[in-house]
Amino acid sequence: MKADTPTRRDQIRWMLADLKLPGALEAADSILAEADGGAITAGEAISKLLGAQIDLRNNRRLQAAMRSSRLPAVKTIEEFDFSFQPSIKREQVQSLAELGFLERKENVVLLGPPGVGKSHLAISLAIAAAKYGRRVYYSTLADLVTNLEEAQAAGTLKRRLAVLTHPALLVIDEIGYIPVSQTGAMLFFQLMSRRYEHASTILTSNKSFDEWGAVLGDEVMAAALIDRVLHHCHIVNIRGNSYRMRHHTEVWKALHPDDQDQSSKEAG
Ligand SMILES: Nc1ncnc2c1ncn2[C@@H]1O[C@H](COP(=O)(O)OP(=O)(O)OP(=O)(O)O)[C@@H](O)[C@H]1O
Ligand SMILES: [Mg+2]
Repeated sequence: MKADTPTRRDQIRWMLADLKLPGALEAADSILAEADGGAITAGEAISKLLGAQIDLRNNRRLQAAMRSSRLPAVKTIEEFDFSFQPSIKREQVQSLAELGFLERKENVVLLGPPGVGKSHLAISLAIAAAKYGRRVYYSTLADLVTNLEEAQAAGTLKRRLAVLTHPALLVIDEIGYIPVSQTGAMLFFQLMSRRYEHASTILTSNKSFDEWGAVLGDEVMAAALIDRVLHHCHIVNIRGNSYRMRHHTEVWKALHPDDQDQSSKEAG
């Protein structure tokens, strides 16, 4: 081959640049070297090349989502230790992470006491959705209600409700720790009515459904809200010990004198 004739490698690099595939371009040299050396088959090389581009695109999507979604942290399903929380069905969470529930506009409710991984799992599903290119938004219930009350006071409620109805996935975390004002509960109900059968919501709570009336200060509205949420819903009911307390068995036992299960759990 003449010196000025582009090599196959140069051609591939040029085509990847022309197609604007920087992830694949960056990985191309090492993948070609592996293929030339016989370490991987042609099929594996193509798969690796496309995979490098998909990884880059997903990470860019995630970075953009971290700016716009207000997710408080990056948590993933892979980081979740299912053996610590045997009441969770791993297959159920893994199937949720495949995101069919988003397409079907179904909800997810994660229930359980403090520290059992409700926020972790909710955030990791939101991150999977963001990587998949879906718009996500995260808020605690207290912040969401404040957000809606401020909009109402400013005369922009209609617009704010529209904005919060838009994301394919809304995470509403921490239902139950802070009681909500009656107006706040009504605004929350309005939002959930709009999202009903329109887009998915993940809700987390330390309280069982029969206690939501007290949290929202209105039993009738809580019942109507729960009715809508549960119509198309996956419930993950977590019964177990706090992951935060896993190194503090003695403290946990003092706080839960009737439940000695923890003593048999791992202490570190
Ligand atoms: N099974 C687990 N494997 C790995 N990390 C876990 C697990 N469960 C919880 N964690 C971690 O422990 C911490 C507490 O979990 P998380 O915040 O999800 O609890 P929570 O159920 O939302 O509690 P709270 O009701 O107090 O908000 C987080 O840092 C989370 O990443
Ligand atoms: Mg939480």
